[in-house]
Amino acid sequence: MTFKALVVEKDESGKTHAAVQEISEDQLPEAEVTVAVEYSTVNYKDGLCIGPGGGLVRRYPHVPGIDFAGTVEASSDPRYKQGDKVVLTGWRVGEAHWGGYAGKARVRADWLVPLPEGLSTRQAMAVGTAGFTAMLAVMALEAHGLRPGDGPVLVTGAAGGVGSVAVALLAKLGHEVAAVTGRPETEAYLRGLGASRIVPRAELAETVKRPLESETWAGCIDAVGGAMLARVLGQMKYRASVAAVGLAGGAALPATVVPFLLRGVNLLGIDSVLQPYANRIAAWERIARDLPMEKLEAMIQPATLEDLPRLGAEILNGQVKGRVVVDVRA
Ligand SMILES: NC(=O)c1ccc[n+]([C@@H]2O[C@H](COP(=O)([O-])OP(=O)(O)OC[C@H]3O[C@@H](n4cnc5c(N)ncnc54)[C@H](OP(=O)(O)O)[C@@H]3O)[C@@H](O)[C@H]2O)c1
Repeated sequence: MTFKALVVEKDESGKTHAAVQEISEDQLPEAEVTVAVEYSTVNYKDGLCIGPGGGLVRRYPHVPGIDFAGTVEASSDPRYKQGDKVVLTGWRVGEAHWGGYAGKARVRADWLVPLPEGLSTRQAMAVGTAGFTAMLAVMALEAHGLRPGDGPVLVTGAAGGVGSVAVALLAKLGHEVAAVTGRPETEAYLRGLGASRIVPRAELAETVKRPLESETWAGCIDAVGGAMLARVLGQMKYRASVAAVGLAGGAALPATVVPFLLRGVNLLGIDSVLQPYANRIAAWERIARDLPMEKLEAMIQPATLEDLPRLGAEILNGQVKGRVVVDVRA
């Protein structure tokens, strides 16, 4: 029995090409658990792996898809049995290992978590790696003292995947949310998710001129990095924290250490890929509890495997709004 997969191949000139193909189970990599994939999604890293690879893909042909949700078909590991609903994010699946853009995936049992109670496989992928990471960022800010009522919390790259889920989560938890976007046409969408203030990207795009500006933000979830993150550091309130999640605007950090020294600002690194199992379970439980499902629904753009080459290019250009949910069986 064959099934559909998005396969990326590399030609002799080093150019990659992605297309939907029929593949069979014996082509899947060796691992303990075979999953019938139901949904996957499109994250920034997927854009890289569908396209030229960005140094993430080790071998071609390659099946991308850094996350998926589905049903266990076969397992040689006692933790999972046929019929179990599961979710996978991280562990370099979809980069170093074949991923979720296929009717089936074969992965290590250590990489899976049971589908959180209260979520469907479709909702789990509407959250996906982006939303899971937004939850980790919220938890990190809370662990460093952020409480509702402390003041506005800034979310950069707000109309993107991480940003959209971060806005909805923070608003639901009672925070005042300021959303930074370069797309003014997303204002109604962001306000619908719970943002009470829209900050045009251009306001924060300039590099640091003064190391400290007025104390404005009680917290920040930053998906952009670069000059914007550097700028935001100088606008944080005394002892407030920034969760650094992404680099959509660049990997450099042209900042000074002054906000750390004079305001006790914390810069918290967020990694979703190698999170220990217990933290994953805790984050998914929080998502099921704290993320309003009607807001999640408003973020969804449905897609099929055939749409992925286009969507991969769009996410690299910052053109995807919210969360793409890929029905791999469609
Ligand atoms: N640390 C982790 O484990 C982890 C996990 C998931 C994702 N990430 C990273 O987080 C970032 C966001 O991921 P995502 O899946 O949410 O991607 P996404 O949906 O494309 O969102 C990124 C958003 O950033 C903004 N943006 C894009 N280019 C920009 C630029 N040049 N300058 C300023 N803002 C820009 C856009 O928002 P607006 O249109 O609203 O301005 C865009 O929608 C990526 O860098 C990704 O690699 C990290």
